[in-house]
Amino acid sequence: MARRADVAVVGAGAAGLYAALCAAREQATVALVSATPLAQTASYWAQGGLAAALAAADSAERHCRDTELAGRGLVRRSAAQVLAREAPQCVHDLQDLGVRFDADRFGRLALGLEGGHSVRRVVHAGGSATGRRVVRQLSALAAADARITVLERQRAGALWRADGRCGGLVCEDGEVIAAGAVVIATGGAAALWARTTNPPGSQGIGLLLAHAAGARLADLELLQFHPTAVIGVRGREGFLVTEAIRGEGATLHDSNGERFVDELLPRDEVSRAIQARLEQSGQRSVGLDMRMIDPARFPNVVASLREVGLDPARELIPVAPAAHYMMGGILTDLNARSTLAGLYAVGESSCTGLHGANRLASNSLSECFVFARRAVADALAEPASARARADPSEQELARLRSSSPPGPADRQTREALWRQAGIERTREGLEELLRAAHPLVRMIASCALARTESRGAHQRRDHPELDPSLDHRHVVVEPDGETSWQTWM
Ligand code: SIN
Repeated sequence: MARRADVAVVGAGAAGLYAALCAAREQATVALVSATPLAQTASYWAQGGLAAALAAADSAERHCRDTELAGRGLVRRSAAQVLAREAPQCVHDLQDLGVRFDADRFGRLALGLEGGHSVRRVVHAGGSATGRRVVRQLSALAAADARITVLERQRAGALWRADGRCGGLVCEDGEVIAAGAVVIATGGAAALWARTTNPPGSQGIGLLLAHAAGARLADLELLQFHPTAVIGVRGREGFLVTEAIRGEGATLHDSNGERFVDELLPRDEVSRAIQARLEQSGQRSVGLDMRMIDPARFPNVVASLREVGLDPARELIPVAPAAHYMMGGILTDLNARSTLAGLYAVGESSCTGLHGANRLASNSLSECFVFARRAVADALAEPASARARADPSEQELARLRSSSPPGPADRQTREALWRQAGIERTREGLEELLRAAHPLVRMIASCALARTESRGAHQRRDHPELDPSLDHRHVVVEPDGETSWQTWM
């Protein structure tokens, strides 16, 4: 007998929790499936904030323009407009839900500056502890909400379809959840790369589930490298030093102690500048000088560095780029609908086209809230008759229960991805990845091979120039695994 819910949400990070709460607020019943205990998801570690045009000197148009500039000719403008217009409302809604964002000395929201933003527009909670604060608060609300059933330590194993529509999911332990709509909010896939800022679980499980059910994926070649991950320090390999610290004046130095880049350029440029210095010098890292930063502003970063014997008040921190954020994902429209009816995707698992080829810092948390709200509104607006589904047949169930998604990629595969689909790629290297055992690695390689140009986070040594004929053109992975092109505006 299947468990029933109006909405099933897979993933309990910022996007999943907010989707669950938005649905419950509309009197819907929700099954929230979380592989980890609540408040231990990747979002918990998010140091960045929410980008929202809240300053008097700012506007949605300006936020949209900065997003498009950073995205290098691939941002879907309509998605950027939605984000820029609706992010401020989401910040206020989160405040109403009890999230306390940092305030300035006049009691107004304190706004931080990050790379690619032309004005201060990033709100934080507890400095660099934003993810922790938001996820803790939303987790507490979800746990206390009678309409939300939290299924902790439960993993989705497959999505099932009936009449060309997603009817629910089967969990790895065999439990069946029949739902009017399923929202995938499982985060990204950056932990497929050997050097990453992400927790080990971020390997694109939601993308694989959606693709196996027949939904399209897109832009998998577009993986953002964060410029300042700690490198060469046991116990903190890949630890992210938030960009907000550069926003407050921290600087980057090469092995001669020289500054070599404007630290507040968009991430793709800063990452490439660091990589070029590393190749010149043969070193593994450059130095991040944050000695001028008040440690009280970024308590969890400073504490994490001190725990492993680094003192940011006295010495430079060794950093280099690491895989950070998957800009591609499950292809969705502006209401977070995937190409399979009844299936939605929000947050990093989705691809609305908002981030183009290079995400603007701190747009991702805002995206979680803006598009989670839209997904739920769209799903619940469907007539109940369209959402009512029969349970899967015994035969279908047996098939789904025996078709679990692939396990985590092994060390060798992750190292190959870092080597061949890292900051610089070549046709030969990418072709090698086509032979990888992991299906998502093969799909990433196919998308990266198709994009025969260099743009944003995707740099091809064999195609070093941007090809203007590929502006607004996106690589789509069809249900049969073949790639095609679509134009999004
Ligand atoms: C950061 O704070 O630098 C990371 C957050 C983000 O990816 O926007």
